[in-house]
Amino acid sequence: MLFQLSEEHLMIQQAARDFAQNELKPGVIERDDQQKFPTEQVKRLGELGFLGMMVDPKYGGGGLDTISYVLAMEEISKIDSSVSVIMSVNNSLVCWGLENFASEEQKMKYLVPLAKGEKIGAFCLSEPEAGSDATSQRTTAIDMGDHYLLNGTKNWITNGNSASTYLVVAQTDVSKGHKGINCLIVEKGLPGFTIGPKENKLGIRGSDTHSLMFQDVKVPKENRIGEDGFGFKFAMKTLAGGRIGIASQALGIASGAFELALKYSKERKAFGTEICNHQAIQFKLADMATEIEAARLLCLKAAWQKDQHLDYAQTSSMAKLFASEVAMKTTVEAVQIHGGYGFVKDFHVERLMRDAKITQIYEGTSEVQRIVISRGVLQ
Ligand code: CAA
Repeated sequence: MLFQLSEEHLMIQQAARDFAQNELKPGVIERDDQQKFPTEQVKRLGELGFLGMMVDPKYGGGGLDTISYVLAMEEISKIDSSVSVIMSVNNSLVCWGLENFASEEQKMKYLVPLAKGEKIGAFCLSEPEAGSDATSQRTTAIDMGDHYLLNGTKNWITNGNSASTYLVVAQTDVSKGHKGINCLIVEKGLPGFTIGPKENKLGIRGSDTHSLMFQDVKVPKENRIGEDGFGFKFAMKTLAGGRIGIASQALGIASGAFELALKYSKERKAFGTEICNHQAIQFKLADMATEIEAARLLCLKAAWQKDQHLDYAQTSSMAKLFASEVAMKTTVEAVQIHGGYGFVKDFHVERLMRDAKITQIYEGTSEVQRIVISRGVLQ
């Protein structure tokens, strides 16, 4: 067992770190405050190859492994999780799903521009009444021969307005339960497809989260991914990889907060010395560093299993469950170490604390991860 990153991994990590520090950090407070979508920053993500990192170069991607993706996600999430969620959804839910399960024609038409970063994708599973209980889809895709007629509402859709390509999960035959669910590729602008207003969120406020409404939208039959009834398995398989992305986002939020708290503790003086000389602070820093390292190892193990084509669904759920709890705990402690300064926006840690919360909710709540893990344990 080799706990060492390759030269190539270190270069990718450095490239992501430089991009985050030089191009994401300026303006991050303002974008969060004003809920401003990071248009320029996402364009640069595409130019640098971060939007289709793991896609085969023959489809316009970077051909990198999942470990590289974890490293890049961590660095970018240290600074701006609104950007990293856009990156995560495009890479692991949309591009990965298309590359692994779409037809060759679908890949050429939809995957290539997404992998090159020319377009952005969205993954549409959640509904007003189907969140954790994802088999209870109310959106319907009725088979009309040469097309599906799509009706329903999707909620909390990341990239909801900025996307051009939407992977929409819908029920075709309710009598078949989850085996009657399909996933359709839906293009923006189809008649009957409307986008609701941007959600006003606690965290990741730069990313655009919207409801989507479908009213008698005609989706060509050739836009179904896989065989009839494959939609639920498609969603579950895709989410298993997506959870590595969100685990890495949580890791980045935690390590970003830790780095800020460590630096502050070496500068801030109280009771005649820098506060890092007080054991109360040292013990906090020790716990934070230990938990972050454990979260990092889980993220990298899940990524390694995925790259080795081993079963990684359980480890990715463990990584997401643990890293998101570490993100929450670490950011709260980072605010505490900063004292009053931690409560104001200029010091960045309050934003990281707000951003951390969503990592316990999207792509499966902590409770959903515990369902996946306990089923594996009890097998
Ligand atoms: N790979 C392949 N197949 C899988 C699978 C996986 N990882 N997980 C489940 N399946 C299959 C099962 O084998 C089963 O198939 P069979 O009947 O043929 O055996 C089928 O899927 C149904 O599985 P379950 O019986 O386990 O389904 P369930 O109803 O008990 O639900 C659940 C399980 C884990 C709770 C699931 O519903 C779930 O993951 N819910 C959370 C959904 C979620 O993550 N939503 C997030 C929305 S996306 C998002 O947030 C994106 C964004 O914008 C940021």
